[in-house]
Amino acid sequence: MVSFSLIIFCVTLLINSISCYLADTRLGHNSVLIHDRLLVFGGWKNSTNSTRIYTSSEIFYLDLTKQFDSVNQQWNLILEGNLPVYEYFSTALVSTLDDDIIYLIGGYMINITTGVLDTSNLIYTYNYSSTTWTPLKVNNAITREEISGVIDDKGIIYIHGGNNFTNYTTFWEYQGKLYNDMQILNVSSTVWTKLNIFHNIPLPCSAYTANLLTNGIIVYLGGFESETGNYTTSNLTLSSMKILKLFDTKKSEWSQMNVTGDTIDPRVYHSSVLTPDGNIILFGGVGKGYQPVNPKIALLNTNKDIYEWSIPSSSSPPLLFGHSANLYGNYMIVLFGCNLETRTMNSEIYLFDVYQRIWVTTYTPPPTTATSKPKRSSPLALGLGLGIGGFVLIGLVIVGIIFYKKNKTKSPTNPTLKIAGSSEPN
Ligand SMILES: *[C@@H]1O[C@H](CO)[C@@H](O)[C@H](O)[C@H]1NC(C)=O
Ligand SMILES: *[C@@H]1O[C@H](CO)[C@@H](O)[C@H](O)[C@H]1NC(C)=O
Ligand SMILES: *[C@@H]1O[C@H](CO)[C@@H](O)[C@H](O)[C@H]1NC(C)=O
Ligand SMILES: *[C@@H]1O[C@H](CO)[C@@H](O)[C@H](O)[C@H]1NC(C)=O
Ligand SMILES: *[C@@H]1O[C@H](CO)[C@@H](O)[C@H](O)[C@H]1NC(C)=O
Ligand SMILES: *[C@@H]1O[C@H](CO)[C@@H](O)[C@H](O)[C@H]1NC(C)=O
Ligand SMILES: *[C@@H]1O[C@H](CO)[C@@H](O)[C@H](O)[C@H]1NC(C)=O
Ligand SMILES: *[C@@H]1O[C@H](CO)[C@@H](O)[C@H](O)[C@H]1NC(C)=O
Ligand SMILES: *[C@@H]1O[C@H](CO)[C@@H](O)[C@H](O)[C@H]1NC(C)=O
Ligand SMILES: *[C@@H]1O[C@H](CO)[C@@H](O)[C@H](O)[C@H]1NC(C)=O
Repeated sequence: MVSFSLIIFCVTLLINSISCYLADTRLGHNSVLIHDRLLVFGGWKNSTNSTRIYTSSEIFYLDLTKQFDSVNQQWNLILEGNLPVYEYFSTALVSTLDDDIIYLIGGYMINITTGVLDTSNLIYTYNYSSTTWTPLKVNNAITREEISGVIDDKGIIYIHGGNNFTNYTTFWEYQGKLYNDMQILNVSSTVWTKLNIFHNIPLPCSAYTANLLTNGIIVYLGGFESETGNYTTSNLTLSSMKILKLFDTKKSEWSQMNVTGDTIDPRVYHSSVLTPDGNIILFGGVGKGYQPVNPKIALLNTNKDIYEWSIPSSSSPPLLFGHSANLYGNYMIVLFGCNLETRTMNSEIYLFDVYQRIWVTTYTPPPTTATSKPKRSSPLALGLGLGIGGFVLIGLVIVGIIFYKKNKTKSPTNPTLKIAGSSEPN
């Protein structure tokens, strides 16, 4: 009877040949909610070969109309949907004007043929119906990595700062420049502009997350900062979680808010999603010297005049960084990334019930009536979660991991990248 069930299994596989896809673990990938699917693409894969960049071009998804659990996942591969470039630490957004179109912007883009960084096209669009990628030529578009964009209901994408690597020849010697500007892309006219702002301009920053509130305010959380703009080991600091940077998209104005509540460690490579009831859920990330951060998960209530941090009391999954998080129905869905505790890549799906504020192990789809157009009216509900960071940094993470293993007693010194800086592999 074993063979009979095997036959059934194989027939099932044949009927649905793209199902049961075994997805590779990764960091710094994109995860995008589109038509009841959670699409995953890009990202950086671990490898023993530190001289080679391991990235991928396949696209796969979770069907959010079906139940799944943390371990028994149901990945589906999109045949013929491959990316035209390898990319990681970019930003990807579904157009609010055409819910078939994904915009993929910036990040490390690597030519698949040559294997080297190639910025000849900075923006690609993906058409969900035709499963095709098309380069989008936009005048004045700029190269940045470690960015997190948001899109408003008029189809304006806002991209703040980011990093421009000028030297990435090795994993442990690196140079770059951080920016503090605000660039916008109007997706209907495909016009890219830099906003001219002169007041309250924040420090140059990358590797932050961004969430657009319904009142038009973008809340920036975490990230690397540098007073000089130099992206170097000695000059990087982490953005405060007490004094938050806000950008008002209606007035094109920056401001700061000293928020209240629980103490939240500054971090990078974290994720954040916005719930329809106005809470931003921060999850994961790492601190200086790849130290763990506390708490793993926190809620920022943006309904108050002065936003307030709180920490849900619930057992948590491991501390992840470079993962992604998206909000769908009742769940924050956390994918991939690196487990800081075991220092291995994460293959489990972690699910946080945002209303009960507990971690659960089973995803139950919302009632079908509610799934026809899930929260499309609010781009915020898409909860664009992004893993953030950089190629060099990831190299450093890996090098740092090896280094850490060899020198467990030698505590990593500040600032952030010192651990890697002191770990030249030879
Ligand atoms: C690592 O990757 C480089 C570049 O592709 C290749 O030349 C080298 O042989 C690889 N090393 C190992 C040990 O696989
Ligand atoms: C990759 O590089 C090749 C050779 O230089 C070039 O012909 C091709 O257009 C590049 N691909 C992309 C997507 O830029
Ligand atoms: C997306 O593809 C569909 C099917 O090929 C096509 O009808 C539609 O016009 C495309 N959308 C865009 C914006 O190109
Ligand atoms: C990024 O750096 C490259 C040189 O590595 C430079 O050509 C390019 O203009 C820079 N981009 C921006 C936006 O400064
Ligand atoms: C890039 O960094 C390497 C290693 O530090 C250095 O040898 C090289 O000169 C740098 N290249 C540039 C263009 O600064
Ligand atoms: C975006 O472009 C469209 C089409 O050209 C235009 O109607 C609209 O006013 C633009 N929006 C902004 C904010 O510039
Ligand atoms: C940035 O770094 C370069 C070389 O590392 C240095 O020459 C330059 O003065 C630095 N700029 C600032 C503003 O510190
Ligand atoms: C680091 O910042 C200090 C001032 O804060 C500056 O003097 C120094 O040149 C910077 N170093 C680099 C490499 O940018
Ligand atoms: C916010 O906190 C900073 C540093 O603690 C302080 O300098 C600043 O005055 C505060 N701003 C407000 C509006 O309270
Ligand atoms: C990367 O792969 C190497 C070799 O398989 C392994 O030793 C290391 O722990 C891995 N690192 C992570 C972060 O998974």
